[in-house]
Amino acid sequence: MSFDLLDPTPEGSDPRLARAFPADFVWGAATAAFQIEGATTADGRGRSIWDTFCAEPGRVANGDTGEVAVDHYHRYRTDVALMSELGLAAYRFSFAWPRLQPSGAGAVHGGGAGFYDRLLDELLGAGITPWATLYHWDLPQALQDAGGWPSRDTAYRFADYAAATHERFGDRIGRWATLNEPWCSAFLGHQSGEHAPGVRDARQSVPAAHHLLLGHGLALQAIRSASPDPTSLGIVLNLAPVSPETNHPDDVAAARRVDGVHNRLWLGPLTDGGYPEDLLADLAELGVGQEHIRPADLDIIGQPLDWVGLNYYSPSVVAARPGQSGRGAPAEAYPGCARVRMVDRDREQTAMGWEVDPQGLVDTLAMLSAAAPRVPIVITENGAAYQDTMIDGVVADPERVQYLRTHLAALARARAEGADVRGYFVWSLLDNFEWAHGYDRRFGVVHVDFQTQRRTPKTSAHWYAGLLTHHRDLGHSVTRL
Ligand code: FCB
Repeated sequence: MSFDLLDPTPEGSDPRLARAFPADFVWGAATAAFQIEGATTADGRGRSIWDTFCAEPGRVANGDTGEVAVDHYHRYRTDVALMSELGLAAYRFSFAWPRLQPSGAGAVHGGGAGFYDRLLDELLGAGITPWATLYHWDLPQALQDAGGWPSRDTAYRFADYAAATHERFGDRIGRWATLNEPWCSAFLGHQSGEHAPGVRDARQSVPAAHHLLLGHGLALQAIRSASPDPTSLGIVLNLAPVSPETNHPDDVAAARRVDGVHNRLWLGPLTDGGYPEDLLADLAELGVGQEHIRPADLDIIGQPLDWVGLNYYSPSVVAARPGQSGRGAPAEAYPGCARVRMVDRDREQTAMGWEVDPQGLVDTLAMLSAAAPRVPIVITENGAAYQDTMIDGVVADPERVQYLRTHLAALARARAEGADVRGYFVWSLLDNFEWAHGYDRRFGVVHVDFQTQRRTPKTSAHWYAGLLTHHRDLGHSVTRL
């Protein structure tokens, strides 16, 4: 199916697109705890590395913090009602580790658990299937103080937290992801320093990456050994196509390096038994050895996956020449790539400066399907930030509608070419705290007035709801994965 065949009218009128997805395709929206909950000191919640990071001058735009965010902690009923209005079958959210283990260890804390009990009651009451992510970047500060992800012990703490959380909520949640985008935790957190904890050191970022993977594997083992029930366990990765600007050998070599850290560092251990040799050689050149990797680790990391989540936003184009870097992913986030330049091609971009490239989704799915041929895939995030404005109570966001339509058309194409994609979660349900950009970037299909906390579905929310209605009207109900 080609996008050109689609009906171009903006609202709720894409029956042909709906028809490209099978009856049991899962439609949802995604959020993450720190970005929406607020209430950072309520009911005994511990401090997280993002609370600390936000409090450090100059780290987050405008000095924004997660203290209030979009107050989902108190407004979850309204938000679940919005999900119902949109006709969502599924909702992807993350547990805040510091709410469940305020000091990063021990029994699940009743105060924080109560919130997730209430949220789950509301979701299940509305017939919306919860998909939980255990770690979306908010490490308890106590664990950071003990060394954070560069320390091996954090992987074991994560597995304990995962098992305790699964034990507490596993009766109501069947779909679990361990980590969200560990590339960001490791390399934005410890290489470019753009994210918490704001470290810039390859000797920390590379072990952090390994310990995140180890924590993932240990968590799968811990949950599976404790729970005989068929819980479906996965991990969420932000893979992306990386291509050289030209076929000059230096550009090609730069693209290989960036691809190594962005994609193959994760896919290798998760699906192929080990780290790519060329990547290990690149790291050794930087003086980063393999002391942090123990022989049994790779078996632990390579536990079978029931599904894998893909977050896709944009591709990367790289060149070897130093100079002004493009506005997409920062070259400093890749160890050994200080002299690499991320290239802005002369193409449409979102408000993040990220290139709009639906074909990149098809290419990424081909990469992932080749690496993990038998593992079902779910698009766990896809969406775009634009400068939305409310005029007379209406937020018209035709660019976001177009972004979603073209990416869903690309997804349909990838499925037709054999990618086993079972579901799609739009990022995001609500405008929210966009990490280092604070409240300056809006990704929601629902607009939030950050002063009044008023929620207003944008045109894209109406369009998405319309698509889901068309899909349901095909005569079969949406079923579970
Ligand atoms: C992803 C994150 C998510 C959000 C989007 C825009 O990298 O997982 O929390 O910030 O980007």
